[in-house]
Amino acid sequence: MTTLAQWLTTETEDAALRGVIGSMAAASAELAGVLRQAPIAGQTGLAGATNVQGEAQKALDVISNDIVLRHLKADNAVAVLISEELDEALTLSETGKYIVATDPLDGSSNLDVNVTVGTIFSILPSAGGLLQKGRAQLAAGYVAYGPAASLVLRIAGDVAVFTLDPAGAWIVTATAAKVPEASGEFAINTARERFWDEATTGYVRDSVAGETGPAGKRYNMRWVGSMVADIHRILMRGGIFLYPLDSETVSKGGRLRLLYEANPMSWLVEGAGGLSTTGHQSILDVEPTGIHQRVPVILGSTEEVRRVEKWYARG
Ligand code: AHG
Ligand code: MN
Ligand code: MN
Ligand code: MN
Repeated sequence: MTTLAQWLTTETEDAALRGVIGSMAAASAELAGVLRQAPIAGQTGLAGATNVQGEAQKALDVISNDIVLRHLKADNAVAVLISEELDEALTLSETGKYIVATDPLDGSSNLDVNVTVGTIFSILPSAGGLLQKGRAQLAAGYVAYGPAASLVLRIAGDVAVFTLDPAGAWIVTATAAKVPEASGEFAINTARERFWDEATTGYVRDSVAGETGPAGKRYNMRWVGSMVADIHRILMRGGIFLYPLDSETVSKGGRLRLLYEANPMSWLVEGAGGLSTTGHQSILDVEPTGIHQRVPVILGSTEEVRRVEKWYARG
């Protein structure tokens, strides 16, 4: 069995980068243990504070952020931490070569109903400053805390999948994950239909029209409400994830955050042969304007993303 440490040595000669990825993997392994016990420890409730996103923070949002912070502080290769749960970018080391942007706990609205949540992270060169396009990423990954804890990672090559073993080690369970080009499964919060733009409405209408409709095939719909869970399903069996700009989110630029949700997920999906788009361009080419900037997110199987882009091209 190949361990994370063995895989990392085959993927990069940069020992400091291996160290940062190892720190995020260790933090996630620790968090996996915390999540398994959280209902017993009474940690699934609210923290009593509101984060910079305007969300009521969960106790586990804060606990997850603290665990990541502790692991990254111990490794002076990280210059700055950007987190969904921190108002400002936090300087960790004057000599660090990397910036880590993280969503320490994704899908936290699912915590008290025991549905899969995750941790997402993006690693960038500190020389490029806080606001770099997703294309500048050196590595990205996420952990899905589901029936198994799955770590999904990409440096510059293929996307690898690791599973947490009972001893707390990450073991390789797939070495080159590929997003199937075609799929009959879409993921969107259909309760927002009244806010959708014409392209989203058109794509979904064509999909639900089934075999006799423009798409010429039957679709199924899945929406977990944790981006990590929805994207992991798409990475494993194909599909398309849509959180597009709509009339309610347009004032904020979208719902999901560019630096620590959209960019790392786009790095992974595109690295596995899928596509990402805002509707008009690859998410990885979006020029960031702020560390908590939001962006429209459409990600997944090439054929499906192209179908959505055709709707947007109609203008
Ligand atoms: P987070 O819990 O990190 O704030 O992210 C939640 C996000 C994302 O995980 C998910 O896809 C989306 O919120 C679900 O949004 P809706 O509740 O509007 O469906
Ligand atoms: Mn949140
Ligand atoms: Mn999130
Ligand atoms: Mn979060």
